[in-house]
Amino acid sequence: MTLTPERRTLLPMLGRTHGTRSASVCHWKCADACTRPDENVSGAERFVDVVRRSAHVSASRRTVLGSSAAGAALAALSVAGPVAAAPGRGGAAAPGTFGFTAIDPVPAEVDRFTVPDGWRWETIISWGDPVETGAPAFDAEAQTPEKQKRQFGYNNDYLDILPLAGSDRRGLLVANHEYTNDELMFPDYATADAAGKLRNTETAMYAHGMSVVEVRRRGPRDAWKPVRSRYNRRITLDTEFVIDGPAAGSPLLRTSEDPTGTRAYGTLNNCAGSTTPWGTVLSGEENVDQYFSKPAVPTAREARYGLTSAGRGWGAVQSRFDLANEGTRNEPNRFFWVVEVDPEDPTAPPVKHTAMGRFKHEGASVRIDASGHAVAYMGDDNRFDYLYKFVSRDTFRPGPSQAARRHNTTLLSAGDLYVAKFDGDGTEDGVYDGTGEWLPLVVGGRSFVPGYSVEEVLVFTRNAADVVQPTAMDRPEDVEPSPVTGYVYVACTNNTARTAARLDEANPRPANKDGHVVEIIEDGGDATGTTFTWNLVLVCGDPDDPSVPTYFGGWQGEVSPISCPDNVAFDAAGNLWVSTDGQPGSIGYNDGLFLVPVSGPERGRVQQFLAVPTGAETCGPQVKSEDGYVLVAVQHPGDFPGASYAAPASTFPYDGVFHGPRPSCVQVLPA
Ligand code: FEO
Ligand code: CA
Ligand code: CA
Repeated sequence: MTLTPERRTLLPMLGRTHGTRSASVCHWKCADACTRPDENVSGAERFVDVVRRSAHVSASRRTVLGSSAAGAALAALSVAGPVAAAPGRGGAAAPGTFGFTAIDPVPAEVDRFTVPDGWRWETIISWGDPVETGAPAFDAEAQTPEKQKRQFGYNNDYLDILPLAGSDRRGLLVANHEYTNDELMFPDYATADAAGKLRNTETAMYAHGMSVVEVRRRGPRDAWKPVRSRYNRRITLDTEFVIDGPAAGSPLLRTSEDPTGTRAYGTLNNCAGSTTPWGTVLSGEENVDQYFSKPAVPTAREARYGLTSAGRGWGAVQSRFDLANEGTRNEPNRFFWVVEVDPEDPTAPPVKHTAMGRFKHEGASVRIDASGHAVAYMGDDNRFDYLYKFVSRDTFRPGPSQAARRHNTTLLSAGDLYVAKFDGDGTEDGVYDGTGEWLPLVVGGRSFVPGYSVEEVLVFTRNAADVVQPTAMDRPEDVEPSPVTGYVYVACTNNTARTAARLDEANPRPANKDGHVVEIIEDGGDATGTTFTWNLVLVCGDPDDPSVPTYFGGWQGEVSPISCPDNVAFDAAGNLWVSTDGQPGSIGYNDGLFLVPVSGPERGRVQQFLAVPTGAETCGPQVKSEDGYVLVAVQHPGDFPGASYAAPASTFPYDGVFHGPRPSCVQVLPA
C-alpha cells in the first residue's frame, strides 16, 4: 500500500485562517488569537545565526533534510530500543506496541471515524451524557445550566482511564472540557432573546471544566462503559480549588470575593494533561483570557496574557469575568495554572499549583528522575512562547501506602522553575540540532529574574521569562518525557507568523504551517540538570509537496503525511504517538493519531493509526499497548466553516441521539 498518496489539490483556504484551523475553531477555541497581535513582543531569541541558517531552510527536503549525512548524525543520537510496529505485515508487533496497517489519509470533508483493518471503535461517553447522580438524559433542545452542571461537558481534550481498586474491569475516566462551540450546541444560538442568550451563555460556562466518571468492562477485550458511581463528578465553575505553593496568599491573587488569595472557583480552557506517577491527573489552563472582558486600560502584564478582548459576555452571569470591576481585577491571576485533581477522592478540592508558573499552560507531564525528584515539562501554547521545566524540591516516595500517596501529592507545591533556551550548532551538518540550557526563574526559593520577586515570577511568569530571553518557539503544545529513555518530546504545532528574519535552528521554517517535534536529551540523563542537547525528530508536512521542507527522523521510505502535531503519548515500548490539530487547513486531511518510532532502524517512520471525523481534532491520546487499546478524545467534530446547529457538518458519533455532532471519548480496540 502507498502511504504517500497522489498529490491532491488542497482545500480552498476560504473560511480557513492563516493559523491553519477553521475560522470557527479559532473563534471559539482561542478567541482568534492568530488575528490579534502577538502576545510576546519582548523580542526574545536573539542568538541565532540567520545567514548560515537561511541558506539551509530554503533548500529542498530531499537534498538537505533527508541527506544521508543528516540521517547518520541523527542515528548517532538514537538509542538502542525495541523494534517498531510492522505495518502491513499481518499485525505482527514487537512487545509493547501494536501491529497495524497504516490507514490512508482521509480527505477533510469525510465525516467518518477511520481505524485500521482489524480494529473497531466504541464511544465511551459524549457531551451531555449523565455524569453525576440525578443528571438527566441529554436533550439538545432543552439544555439548561442546571442540567449541564451534572452532565458530561463539551469538547473533551485530555483523557485517561485510571485503574480503580486494582481491578482491570473498573476504572476512572478523567476528561478535560476545553471550550464550547456555541453555534453548534444551541438551536437558538442566532435567534434567542436576551433571556435565551443568557441561558445559553451560562450553559456553555458549565460545559467547561472536567469530568470524572467510573467505567467498567466485562473483560480485558471489551469496551469501557460509564456507570453510576460515587466517584462520578463534574468539576465546574462552582468547584472550589485550593491555591498552593509560594504565591498562595499573594496580594496578586486576592479579590473582593477571596481576600485570602488562597481559593479559586473553577478551572477553564483545560487543554492537555497527564496522569502523575502517584495517580492524580494534571490539567493545563490555557486560553483563559477569552472569558474576561478587558479592563478599561490593560496593563502591559495583562496584555502579555491576552486580556485585551471584549470577552464572551460571561460578566453578565458572574461579575468576576468583567474586569471593569476593580474588585475582580486579579481574577484572571487565579487562572492560567496547572491544576491537580485526585479522581479517587470526590470530596478533595482540586489544587492550583503556583510553583509551576502561570502562563497559557497546554499541559504538564511528570517524570520521576533517578534522584527521585518529580520533573514536569510544560509548553506555553502561543506563537513565540516558551518551554518550561519544573523540578520538585522533595522526592518521590514509592509504594502503595496512603501515606506515600499523600506525600507525593505535595511534590508539585515546591520546587524550581526554568525556561528553555535552544542554541543551534549551525546547519552545515545537515541536521537541526544543538545544545540548550534551562534558564533559572525561581531556584531554591529565590528569584533569578532581575526586578521580580518570587511571587511576581510565578504569577507573571511570561513577563518574567521575557527578561531572561529564552527561545521563542513555534507554539509549544504537549511535552512528554519517554518512559523508556527519558528523552523529552515537544510538539510545536505551527507558527505561520514566523518570518524568515526570525528563524532559529529549533524553529527553522518561515510561515511554519505544519509544525515540528523537538527531541530533548538531558545531559547525563539528569532531568534535574540545566543543560541538554536537542534535535528535530520530525519536521512535519506532506512529503509529496516539494514547496515544504520536511524531515522524518532520517527515515527514507514512505510515511503518512502529518501536520500540526499537538498531543504526544508513548506506548509501553517507548514509541512516540502524535495526535494532530489543524491538518485540514494545512495538508487537506482530517486530523489523526500517528505512530512514530523514535529509536531503532524505523526511527521517523510515521504511520497513521486513525483519523477523526470532519472538522474534529484528535486529543488526549492514550496508547494502552499492554492492555490492547487506544483512547482518543474527539474534539470539535463538525466544526467546519458554515456549519451550525441547524446545518451540521458531522453527525459523529452517529448514535442517533442527536442530529448533530457530539464531542466524545472513544476507545479503539481489536475487532
Ligand atoms: Fe488547547 Fe494548545 O491546544
Ligand atoms: Ca545542526
Ligand atoms: Ca492541544
